[in-house]
Amino acid sequence: MYNKKYINTKLSKFLIFMNQEEKKQKVAEASLEYIQSGQVIGIGTGSTINHLISLMDKVKSKIDGVVSSSENTTKLLIEKNIRILELNEVGRLPLYIDGADESNMHRQLIKGGGGALTREKILAQASDEFICVIDDSKLVDKLGNFPLPVEVLQISQSLVALELVKIGGRPVLRENFNTDNGNVILDVHNLEILEPIKMEQSINNLPGVITNGIFALRPADRLLVSNSNGVDVIEN
Ligand code: A5P
Repeated sequence: MYNKKYINTKLSKFLIFMNQEEKKQKVAEASLEYIQSGQVIGIGTGSTINHLISLMDKVKSKIDGVVSSSENTTKLLIEKNIRILELNEVGRLPLYIDGADESNMHRQLIKGGGGALTREKILAQASDEFICVIDDSKLVDKLGNFPLPVEVLQISQSLVALELVKIGGRPVLRENFNTDNGNVILDVHNLEILEPIKMEQSINNLPGVITNGIFALRPADRLLVSNSNGVDVIEN
């Protein structure tokens, strides 16, 4: 039999989860207004973006197609009968919309909780405008509370892990997980990310690293942040 305390804890966790899902849905909806007619747009990966995809019936007749950042997103878009294009076919993108695991006020991000960071970073780099959609629990003063995902060639996983320990991190191999590119992910705990651009560059310089989840060299241009009262926009 469950006691009252157990049930209350479960219930409050469920309510926090529901509240966060509502915020994700609200911020996803707010991003729809930035999608223009005749565009091929980039779409990211994750639970916030899944809300956006389920709302895309509202805009799918006016766009020319989507470049997707992951196999998961592609599958969901195909179920919606949305045309998928490859980045190589379109060159650049006018707009890329994606979530994040953390953002600071400079719109520098940690991404990759879903493991799609490399393709996401490519699409962000290829886009004229990058809109990031988060709820207010992800807005932080300093990046690094969320473990930093680093995509690594499997043969170099222990070498890279040793280097990450040298800079103060505690890398943990993401178990039973391979990226869409066939690589592994090290989730790095305890990193103090005081200078996001420098850390992004230095981790990317380690042999065997495909990319890391700091998005500071190419931050978001516009950050949409949902809270209980609405959606705030943080931009240039
Ligand atoms: C996917 O690899 C990630 O970069 C996601 O964009 C990020 O983890 C945010 O995901 P949620 O919207 O599920 O929180």
